[in-house]
Amino acid sequence: MKRSDYPKLSKPLSMQKLGDWLAGARRALSALPQEPATSLYALAAHTLQQPAYWPQAHPEYELAPDQLETLEHMLQQLLAGEPLPYLLENQSFYGLDFFVNDQVLIPRPETELLVERALNWLGQHPHARLAADVGTGSGCIALSIASHCPQVQLIATDRSFQSLLVARQNRTRLTLQERVDLLQCDLLSSVGSSIDLICANLPYIPSAKLETLDVARHEPLGALDGGPDGLRLIERLLSQARSRLNPNGMILLEIEYSQSESIKTLIWSYFPQASVTIMPDLNQLPRLAIIETGN
Ligand SMILES: C[S@@+](CC[C@H](N)C(=O)[O-])C[C@H]1O[C@@H](n2cnc3c(N)ncnc32)[C@H](O)[C@@H]1O
Repeated sequence: MKRSDYPKLSKPLSMQKLGDWLAGARRALSALPQEPATSLYALAAHTLQQPAYWPQAHPEYELAPDQLETLEHMLQQLLAGEPLPYLLENQSFYGLDFFVNDQVLIPRPETELLVERALNWLGQHPHARLAADVGTGSGCIALSIASHCPQVQLIATDRSFQSLLVARQNRTRLTLQERVDLLQCDLLSSVGSSIDLICANLPYIPSAKLETLDVARHEPLGALDGGPDGLRLIERLLSQARSRLNPNGMILLEIEYSQSESIKTLIWSYFPQASVTIMPDLNQLPRLAIIETGN
């Protein structure tokens, strides 16, 4: 049974108190074992503009009709499989809050590994001045790096104008307009040379595999589809990076776990001198290609 096939709830006319609504919503949500009941508290806190703990502490609160209507609408969307961060318009990433909508990939904890490595490398290379985040989406990688590393200027690119609008909103929230440039282009095509560090979490899921994944039903395909083998965009990026990266630069690429061997062959065909390390993510799956390009 697909998530969207779940029966719609009849309108809960008698549920006026928050505690009653939460109890009914919990029963409805039990049809989706993968969705934790805490999602309901988050929806309630968001709708009622209260802190996270508040809904649990105030079951006696009388919901106004418009609040009840909003909560019911969100519950239906959740039951239909809409990811919670899109409903909350928020996702935490590397200790910061990012505005998200359905035009961008929801930032994943796995990608924090890439940011951590980038900051680590920048810390060891205090003369590095320019970093690029290719396929920036919500801007989570570029903006996290910029907020934690004052020495560096960033260029964040995306081919999707809608994504860049989201990134711009996050850049304003974090007051990083002076440090992060947003650019609509194909990969690095409109970026000049002299980049010290390139970070990219590009679409890397092979097209055929994508059809089998639930994520493709809710998040933008343009953020996920990496072509027949998942490596088409990464290969083009490596090709563009050759003339733009400074000697002894660094490239950090998020990859699919099945690509850990094929990516090395690809990297060495563009950067024969490179030292390549593949790091595992929190689930011990290969996730990050760390490329020190050499001279
Ligand atoms: C997997 S999402 C990653 C978003 C964000 N960096 C993150 O880590 O959450 C990939 C992003 O690459 C962008 N993208 C896809 N093809 C691109 C291209 N040819 N040039 C620039 N950006 C591209 C998509 O629009 C999407 O925002």
